[in-house]
Amino acid sequence: MTKAIRYDKTGGPEVMKWVDVEVGEPGEGEVRLRQSACGLNYIDVYFRTGLYPQPLPAGLGMEAAGEVTAVGEGVSALKVGDRVAYVARPPGAYAQERVLRADQVIKLPDAIGDEAAASIMLQGLTAQYLLRRTYRVKAGDTIVIQAAAGGVGLIVCQWAKALGATVIGTVGSDEKAAIAKAHGCDHPIVYTREDFTARVREITNGVGVPVVYDSIGKDTYTKSLDCLAPLGMFVSFGNASGPLPPIDSSEFAGRGSLFFTRPTLFTYIARRADYEAMAAELFDVVASGKVKTSINQRCALSDVGQAHAGLEARKTTGSTVLLP
Ligand SMILES: NC(=O)c1ccc[n+]([C@@H]2O[C@H](COP(=O)([O-])OP(=O)(O)OC[C@H]3O[C@@H](n4cnc5c(N)ncnc54)[C@H](OP(=O)(O)O)[C@@H]3O)[C@@H](O)[C@H]2O)c1
Repeated sequence: MTKAIRYDKTGGPEVMKWVDVEVGEPGEGEVRLRQSACGLNYIDVYFRTGLYPQPLPAGLGMEAAGEVTAVGEGVSALKVGDRVAYVARPPGAYAQERVLRADQVIKLPDAIGDEAAASIMLQGLTAQYLLRRTYRVKAGDTIVIQAAAGGVGLIVCQWAKALGATVIGTVGSDEKAAIAKAHGCDHPIVYTREDFTARVREITNGVGVPVVYDSIGKDTYTKSLDCLAPLGMFVSFGNASGPLPPIDSSEFAGRGSLFFTRPTLFTYIARRADYEAMAAELFDVVASGKVKTSINQRCALSDVGQAHAGLEARKTTGSTVLLP
């Protein structure tokens, strides 16, 4: 018997229960892990509240790090004792132990500790594809990242800076502005107080930016479009304030032939070769010190309700790690 978080109805943080579960032996092509750190991500809130539905009862959590404790038949790439991490579906990472397909798991290099890994598999791989694949940021670009002091935000700021970009980031408070600035955000804008579109136009001498990475959704949608230069790309990668309205394509024509994409990490890591290459690039950029992990909150996994409440109340910065 081991412990895990389960929920049998959608709702507030109180629906998550710390319960006994049977994990069992790994089957063919599977491994069993003893997990030492789990990551907290905004997608966990979407599942818990029902914005992203799944059949219930179910687990929560998309990423964790730990050690292989058993391998099933046919698994040759991993052995007992290997340190590994993953980002994987279906949700269920909030657990002390877990059985997963071996091809969902990545071996960790010595330079990446378990807590660091649990804080970057989802948010860091997201930053990787946003900056390196969705819109390939190059030296001299000026970019906009919403929620710049958040988990994905602090990684994007540092990585984009290392790529030679000028980073404009929106944040909800002056404290968050200072944190974003310390992580490479050249122009933090407190969007709860300032008109960020006007500021972006001012910073870019009226030109606008080639890309806006927007994870806020409903509250920032139209203003984000107004930050783009003609042929710019609107990357809608989250909906912390609620989903976007139905898309009106004339909004994209009228502002100068804009591009729209609604990416998800799971599309980008669907092929094992991509997953491995993206993880290798992420581990390199972290090991080199260009991107530092920001574990600004830690909490016992059994108290995950508090961690969800803090994330939804916009009280967190950087990443949160849950300790099973
Ligand atoms: N598509 C993908 O592949 C993918 C992958 C990873 C993450 N995401 C998305 O990226 C976003 C960031 O994820 P994260 O885990 O790193 O979270 P996070 O950025 O650490 O937390 C969310 C932040 O959004 C801001 N926010 C603005 N309006 C909000 C509202 N009404 N309610 C709550 N927060 C609000 C807050 O920052 P301020 O106070 O500074 O405004 C808050 O701290 C999420 O939307 C998530 O769904 C998408």
